[in-house]
Amino acid sequence: MKNRLIQLSALVCASFLSLLAAPAASSPPRDNILLSCGAAGPDSDANGRPWTSDAESEYAPSLNGRSYSAMQQASSVPRVPYLTARVFTSPYTYSFPLPTGRIFLRLHFYPSNFANHSAADAFFSVTAGPYTLLQNFSASLTADALSFAYLTREFSLNVSSGCLNITFAPSTTHKNSYAFINGIEIVPIPGIFSSSRPMLIHGGNPVEFEIDADQALQTVYRLNVGGQAISPVKDSGLSRTWEDDSPYIYGAASGVTFSNDPNVSIKYTPSVPNYIAPEEVYSTARSMGPNAHINLNYKLTWILPVDAGFYYLVRLHFCEIQYPITKENQRVFGVYLDNLTAQWAADVIGWSKGIGVPVFKDYVVITMGSGQTDLWVALHPQTISKPQYYDAILNGMEVFKLQNSDNSLAGVNPEPRPQPVEDPGKVSKQKEAKGHVAAIVGVVIGGGFAILLAGVYLSWMSKDKEMKAAAEDLDDESLLRHVGEIDGGTTKLEVKPGNPTSENGSHE
Ligand SMILES: *[C@@H]1O[C@H](CO)[C@@H](O)[C@H](O)[C@H]1NC(C)=O
Ligand SMILES: *[C@@H]1O[C@H](CO)[C@@H](O)[C@H](O)[C@H]1NC(C)=O
Ligand SMILES: *[C@@H]1O[C@H](CO)[C@@H](O)[C@H](O)[C@H]1NC(C)=O
Ligand SMILES: *[C@@H]1O[C@H](CO)[C@@H](O)[C@H](O)[C@H]1NC(C)=O
Ligand SMILES: *[C@@H]1O[C@H](CO)[C@@H](O)[C@H](O)[C@H]1NC(C)=O
Ligand SMILES: *[C@@H]1O[C@H](CO)[C@@H](O)[C@H](O)[C@H]1NC(C)=O
Repeated sequence: MKNRLIQLSALVCASFLSLLAAPAASSPPRDNILLSCGAAGPDSDANGRPWTSDAESEYAPSLNGRSYSAMQQASSVPRVPYLTARVFTSPYTYSFPLPTGRIFLRLHFYPSNFANHSAADAFFSVTAGPYTLLQNFSASLTADALSFAYLTREFSLNVSSGCLNITFAPSTTHKNSYAFINGIEIVPIPGIFSSSRPMLIHGGNPVEFEIDADQALQTVYRLNVGGQAISPVKDSGLSRTWEDDSPYIYGAASGVTFSNDPNVSIKYTPSVPNYIAPEEVYSTARSMGPNAHINLNYKLTWILPVDAGFYYLVRLHFCEIQYPITKENQRVFGVYLDNLTAQWAADVIGWSKGIGVPVFKDYVVITMGSGQTDLWVALHPQTISKPQYYDAILNGMEVFKLQNSDNSLAGVNPEPRPQPVEDPGKVSKQKEAKGHVAAIVGVVIGGGFAILLAGVYLSWMSKDKEMKAAAEDLDDESLLRHVGEIDGGTTKLEVKPGNPTSENGSHE
């Protein structure tokens, strides 16, 4: 008996200790809600996370939508929560009692035909409290344009009224329209934006931009730069998905990727706790490459398609992870957003005060117009302070759309991709020509920038006076050759002793 008691208390203690040992900062105190809409009962997803059904759920009072299973499901699509859906032909409101504080709200969509409801007819809005999250949204057009089978839309909201009402409303202008949802995920999060003091980058002197306590945001990009995709279970407690950044790199000049020296570990700080980004983000990076001469002649650039007419919060994650970079003024570089200077001289060690210590910097950029536009993020060595290496580094990047003055985060649907031609024999010349142009555009949107943009790339570079001076003895042809070498991997890059970057750990 006594023995059993000891065993029992040891067990209780062990589980208590393991609770304590779980990184305190990364386990939010409040519960996650995973609602699988249209499901018959509780079920677990591929990662073992438990989802409950919205049928007879406390969050779905007087549920009026019908449940459907997708007519067919691609094998790449996870069964939970995407196989089942709730379809609404009139507005419906889910109601989540929530403690005060910030959450991630993730809406999961797998466009499909549901009985006599065609996937192409689903146009609807989603509002959460006072915010419009989606408007005239077509999951089918969006997924198709991105070549994705299913979609997650992630928002961050600060819930203050004790309850979050999420309303799905079919479009009133499109005939036969309906709303649908496969899964609703609510993850309470620490104040990852409340300490943010971003600089507004607008062309003049950067000024501080205030993020309101009740600011609504939509995550548009979350990239593990120089590393691999990170799945929700591998995130540091907030179930975020991090994508590989390589599809967004501009042109062939993708620099080199590397990971931490084996004896360098990531040291979180009170201002950068582990919930800001998992170790896997900070322990991989992309730099420009080992050749200062080449680096002076290009900008390491990411191009991110976004909805125009919004402000965007751009969060850049930095961490020096390889020797010999341990001191200030070893690697110093400029950061450019939409071709405007965001950071004149970024010195990661200067900010972090040590190798392995992560930092992040926030900036706000304004995009004009309507429809879609490209957000340009670029890095280039800063030579004025005569740093030891002419190079740049980036470990992670997040881009969040900020709600506009109408409390809306909604953009427009992307242009549909060209339909596959059914009977090639009957296609008219005009149709053929149109299809051809669209196909090229499709390739560009799909990330195959290299061919089309090579010209733009060179003309952009020659415009940059600062670089022009350094480029005097390097003509465009040899530049292209070098760039090709970096990307194609045909020529092995020489890694000199004491060079900040090496090919070790590169996954490419
Ligand atoms: C949410 O909706 C319920 C029922 O429609 C309503 O009683 C409640 O006041 C709403 N709460 C908020 C915060 O809008
Ligand atoms: C689909 O069928 C239901 C009855 O099963 C009907 O009420 C509804 O109007 C139909 N919808 C369309 C778009 O035809
Ligand atoms: C949420 O908003 C309230 C005020 O509405 C504010 O006091 C609180 O700090 C905010 N929480 C976060 C995490 O931003
Ligand atoms: C870690 O390894 C590097 C060589 O890769 C060496 O220069 C450095 O002194 C080592 N640091 C520690 C703290 O062991
Ligand atoms: C940045 O400059 C390049 C080259 O001049 C141009 O093609 C691109 O549209 C510019 N980007 C933005 C967002 O202004
Ligand atoms: C809704 O989106 C579709 C597809 O992009 C578009 O054709 C239609 O004009 C939009 N309707 C409204 C009311 O904006």
